Amino acid sequence: MHAFTALVRKPGLKFPQALSEHPQKNNIDLAHALRQHEGYVKALQEVGGKVEHLPPKDHLPDATFVEDTAVLLEDKILLCPMKEPSRQEEVESTAAVLKKYRDCVTLDSPATLDGGDVMNTPDAIFVGLSKRTNLRAIQALAKLTSKRVIPVAVTKGLHLKSATTFLGNDLLIIDPSRVDSSNLKQFDWIEVTESESYAANCLAFEDVVLMPAGFSSISDKIRAHGLKPLELEMSEFEKADGSITCLSLIIPRRAAASR
Ligand code: GLY
Repeated sequence: MHAFTALVRKPGLKFPQALSEHPQKNNIDLAHALRQHEGYVKALQEVGGKVEHLPPKDHLPDATFVEDTAVLLEDKILLCPMKEPSRQEEVESTAAVLKKYRDCVTLDSPATLDGGDVMNTPDAIFVGLSKRTNLRAIQALAKLTSKRVIPVAVTKGLHLKSATTFLGNDLLIIDPSRVDSSNLKQFDWIEVTESESYAANCLAFEDVVLMPAGFSSISDKIRAHGLKPLELEMSEFEKADGSITCLSLIIPRRAAASR
């Protein structure tokens, strides 16, 4: 029995034109990205996941970043009203698959939301107020869940989860220079510096933490918390302003089995 299902989509032919503000955005190597994606899929399988591949979308540059298209809530799935016109078509394609897991809903305009801004924790959902996600979306999301929904201003970078991710057991990994962290003080922190910021995006499965390769002091800190870092080569996705969590939509076993 798999612990979870992960929806993923390989980078398509237009991936090198993904939206990005990274200085190396014009040097994305698709073949290398495809190899790195294979490594990512293997890691998900190693930690007990069943990986479901979404149909390729060669004409949509950012379609490999499936996390942004939807948010899993307790009893439904929220299809994200994405702000970027070039990404909106991605949502339909993810929805076609998600409908088999849960009822799907969306939000009315002018709400805009990217899944990368939604950090779910056991007691509360933290939502980035960012370049992509607005207050209308956060207010509407709050009506769809019994958890507290707490806005967090993103002051630098793309999404909330570019700056912080939840590792379980009240532990965050966080670059506090990128967010207003005043609503995140109740957690323990593994703090990363600005130069290590890319390592703030990790994906935890029980005691295993998928993290980008090349941050040895951060992997040491993760180990010091009794967790096991699993390092992944992510260079081509980093150039495309994408990170570890962006590459999958994780459906826990309970939700996957419920329909
Ligand atoms: N390249 C990821 C995004 O901008 O949405």
